[in-house]
Amino acid sequence: MDVRTFWLAGRPATGDAELTVTNPDDGREVGRVSMPTEAQVEEAVAAAHAVAAKAAALPIHIRAEALAHVSRRLAERSDEIAELIMAENGKPIFWARGEVGRAVATFRFAAEEARRWSGEVLRLDTEPAAAGRLAYVSRVPYGPVLAITPFNFPLNLVAHKVAPAIAVGAPVVVKPAPATPLSSLVLGDILAETELPAGMFSVLPVANERASALVRDPRLPVVSFTGSAPVGYAIADQVPRKHVTLELGGNAAAVVLADADLDWAARRVALFSNYQAGQSCIAVQRVIVERPVYDDFVTRLLPAVDALVVGDPADEKTQVGPMVSEEAAERVEQWVREAVEGGARLLAGGTRVGATFAPTVLADVPADAKVCREEIFGPVMVLQQAASVDEAFAMVNDSAYGLQAGVFTRSLDIAFRANRELEVGGVIIGDVPSYRADQMPYGGVKDSGIGREGLRPAMEDLTYEKVMVLTGLDL
Ligand code: SIN
Repeated sequence: MDVRTFWLAGRPATGDAELTVTNPDDGREVGRVSMPTEAQVEEAVAAAHAVAAKAAALPIHIRAEALAHVSRRLAERSDEIAELIMAENGKPIFWARGEVGRAVATFRFAAEEARRWSGEVLRLDTEPAAAGRLAYVSRVPYGPVLAITPFNFPLNLVAHKVAPAIAVGAPVVVKPAPATPLSSLVLGDILAETELPAGMFSVLPVANERASALVRDPRLPVVSFTGSAPVGYAIADQVPRKHVTLELGGNAAAVVLADADLDWAARRVALFSNYQAGQSCIAVQRVIVERPVYDDFVTRLLPAVDALVVGDPADEKTQVGPMVSEEAAERVEQWVREAVEGGARLLAGGTRVGATFAPTVLADVPADAKVCREEIFGPVMVLQQAASVDEAFAMVNDSAYGLQAGVFTRSLDIAFRANRELEVGGVIIGDVPSYRADQMPYGGVKDSGIGREGLRPAMEDLTYEKVMVLTGLDL
């Protein structure tokens, strides 16, 4: 098998070591990737730094056309890229295709936002002393972005860092997850077809242990990280003076209230607790059901979980595939075992074959069990009962995390109340917390992170406001 090159300041390069990428489903080798030397990492960072001023001054049409090109080419190559995502990540082809479709939209939204990126004009002659004065408020990139990306969406969560960086004119150095570097390298292939200047992007498949040197490098003033809370906050603590964006985990709750459409809620909760084998920061983990409908809901939920198609990721009908590795599935197995030993009842699943963990439903779980308190990042849901809306919302908020929450209700009053009271970055009414449209602000409160992604919010996050005041004007 040929060794795949990486992207060093816009050109393909080969280093002195290799990373083997394996398919989580069957352990088969999917590819070998060349890893950069220290000198090559230095060259990539130096190139990003050197091109920063030119990148910030790039005409909007060049940035927008590059982003639109990436969107078009991802669409043209979607079948091949979906197969690659499936192979390196193990996610079923249905979800892999969905991810490519989302990345097509992410780059398209970025191209559109780039064309609207105009700044603002403020009249200052609101006071007599400022007669003839006007302010032009523009946004300026902090500088090159270090993008540290996770394995669970190896294309679209890279897109969410690369696309807004290009849109604002900031060079970007991507450090992909070691388990899934291939999709980001294909993104590099497509970026290399554009008119972006050399140095504007690098994709460096370095080991996690080498990320810390990149994090500390002063020539990369922005660190945008998606991953676990402990790693994210360790990054923020290392570089308190840098601009750090953290998209971290959660133990997302779906609240099912007495007025909900229970069939719909059961189907959605079953699917989105288990999509991507639960490896999404907004996968349903806690299901909080109002007591009068609890039994009725569980009666509908269990068949919906049972009906999920688990198995071969290449089969178009498969909904639940393997986790990213056997070790990851073993860790989930251990947490479920601990919960059961502590008194939880296993209503479904709880079994593992290699890296595949069966869709699992737990009830009567001790409140301090890891499956409740921490992010399980696996296909496991915990059922809880609430006596009232008050109690349900208090249970959602009884978490160190706050990324998104879903509330199944038909009441507009309760919807607005949920929006006011739930301590999360996003409230989804009538659906699971796992809903995300790529152009909407996405990010958390509490231990779920700092900052927002979603193109326009990310473009604001990567830039600071700069004011130019014009004086002596005849307004
Ligand atoms: C995540 O796991 O945070 C990303 C979820 C998504 O983009 O749908």
